Amino acid sequence: MICCQGVCLSRGEHSIIRDVDLMVEAGRRVAVMGPSGSGKTTLLHILAGLLKPSAGQVVVAGQELNGASHRARTKLRQHKVAVVFQFGELLPELTVGENVALPLRIRGDSHYDNRVESALAMVGFTDATAWPAQLSGGEIQRVAVARALVSQPQVILCDEPTGSLDAVNSGRVIDLIVESAAATSATLVVVTHDNSIAQRMDEVYVLSDGQLTV
Ligand SMILES: Nc1ncnc2c1ncn2[C@@H]1O[C@H](COP(=O)(O)OP(=O)(O)OP(=O)(O)O)[C@@H](O)[C@H]1O
Ligand SMILES: [Mg+2]
Repeated sequence: MICCQGVCLSRGEHSIIRDVDLMVEAGRRVAVMGPSGSGKTTLLHILAGLLKPSAGQVVVAGQELNGASHRARTKLRQHKVAVVFQFGELLPELTVGENVALPLRIRGDSHYDNRVESALAMVGFTDATAWPAQLSGGEIQRVAVARALVSQPQVILCDEPTGSLDAVNSGRVIDLIVESAAATSATLVVVTHDNSIAQRMDEVYVLSDGQLTV
């Protein structure tokens, strides 16, 4: 489902990602750990097609990303790959329901109310009319997970999805991510600093100074 070979990303003189090889089979769960500034977010954004590598091969959900057009990469995110960001990144001027519906609206789906409802039910948050500003950090992350699940992605990429949460909420959110990925047979990549999260994954990689090791 994910295949990176010799992936590098440089900015000027500075090389952020160096010669990364990563293979993830469909349905597997992978953690990427590593110190701040080691390139975790950069690698995740390469997998999401948000950043183009300077060298190497990246194939995600059957889409070759190096030479792919902006349109092809956008299409990949609309249909096959979802991202959960560190702070949820809900749009404050939209309700919870509107936030979760957004990926479906953007790709032009109609009649999506049921899917929004069931994605919210999956994360145990049912008040679709609430505003993001009224939610706790844990609730925001649950809604962000619902927004990622609503498009039924084959790949879910999470960037420190529990980075801003206490241990109890962090445990709940990660349970939710793992269970919903399993329920939909999605492939999961989670960037985390948290050993207890990493232990829930099938494989744990460490990124150090742009290089990935087992
Ligand atoms: N657009 C950019 N231009 C130049 N340097 C960048 C750019 N984006 C990231 N970097 C640098 O690349 C390195 C890796 O950044 P990245 O955000 O991927 O780290 P990270 O492992 O996610 O860190 P954290 O744990 O703090 O989130 C950092 O040194 C950062 O300053
Ligand atoms: Mg980061």
